[in-house]
Amino acid sequence: MLTKSEFVKQILGPQSLMISEAITAFAPANIALVKYWGKRDSELNLPVTDSLSIDLGDLGTETSIEYSPDGRDYVILNGNVLDLNDPFAVKVINFIDLFRDAISNYRTGLVIITNNNIPTGAGVASSASGFAALTKTLDKYFDLRLTDRELSLLANLGSGSASRSIFKGFVYRHAGTDPDGMDSYSEPLPYTWPELKIGLITVSAKAKRVSSREGMERTVATSPLYKQWPQQVKEDMEKMLSAIKEKDFELLGSTAENNALAMHRCIQSSVPPINYFEPETVAIINKVQEQRKNGLPLYLTIDAGPNVKLLYLEQDEEKVKSQFPDMRVVNR
Ligand code: DP6
Repeated sequence: MLTKSEFVKQILGPQSLMISEAITAFAPANIALVKYWGKRDSELNLPVTDSLSIDLGDLGTETSIEYSPDGRDYVILNGNVLDLNDPFAVKVINFIDLFRDAISNYRTGLVIITNNNIPTGAGVASSASGFAALTKTLDKYFDLRLTDRELSLLANLGSGSASRSIFKGFVYRHAGTDPDGMDSYSEPLPYTWPELKIGLITVSAKAKRVSSREGMERTVATSPLYKQWPQQVKEDMEKMLSAIKEKDFELLGSTAENNALAMHRCIQSSVPPINYFEPETVAIINKVQEQRKNGLPLYLTIDAGPNVKLLYLEQDEEKVKSQFPDMRVVNR
């Protein structure tokens, strides 16, 4: 079994130091249509199941890396210089250290400038796009010339969902079975579906009550429903792949919604229970289901938080907007 540091060294191989000028890269946020919930390896952050996502277009993170003239590290998030004890700064520096350690103990300080264009209050997590953008930027900064597959393996060490944010479009994340995690990568699927639309409804922009890592650990360890989860994902994956290939919107929407609600039932049945929903989340779920009964092809998905993502076809956008005027349409 590898440690994180050995994992990175294995992928990077022997490196002679090449440093570029300031470098910038962008990665999109993504939303899982078949969710990842639960880790098969906590050190390497490997998932129990496969997952499948779609990118959120121009919503995401742009990250720059520059040489630090005074030798100290700086993490600047949305224009604010963070204290290096800030939990976000700690995660970023720990991640960068994995690369610095792998590159002949490169110890010079770096300035990391990260900007999320995800509007504050959009209720979309930025860790996926954040770690994907950081991984892409490190690759360019140190001239590592890694493949996209390798980037997806490395981004995963920052956040599981970041592995998928290396790519655009529909992305398939393999759980893999290798104890060293080398087969736990993401890849883009060769299908596009421009008429498929995503609308974001923000119920609360506050940080989640329980982090994904903690929530997953508790669900896996205590939820009596979790033993059914891997089988549910397997079946949902088959349905989702066929829905995408055939452009069967009802199958895509119903599978995504069932999968998300099944994940939340697992989470809610943890001991002690975890509930990511707010009363308004439940009201939106009811309204979506009611609209569907009235004939509107509209579905939803929800991550580890209270915010709802609507799935619909472009031709129904005006009808969906009239029911959910606060919805923000994702520009893909
Ligand atoms: C519900 O990727 O945030 O959004 O790997 O612990 O950082 P860590 O978890 P994270 O979890 C995402 C969970 C989810 C489902 C998904 O995106 O697949």
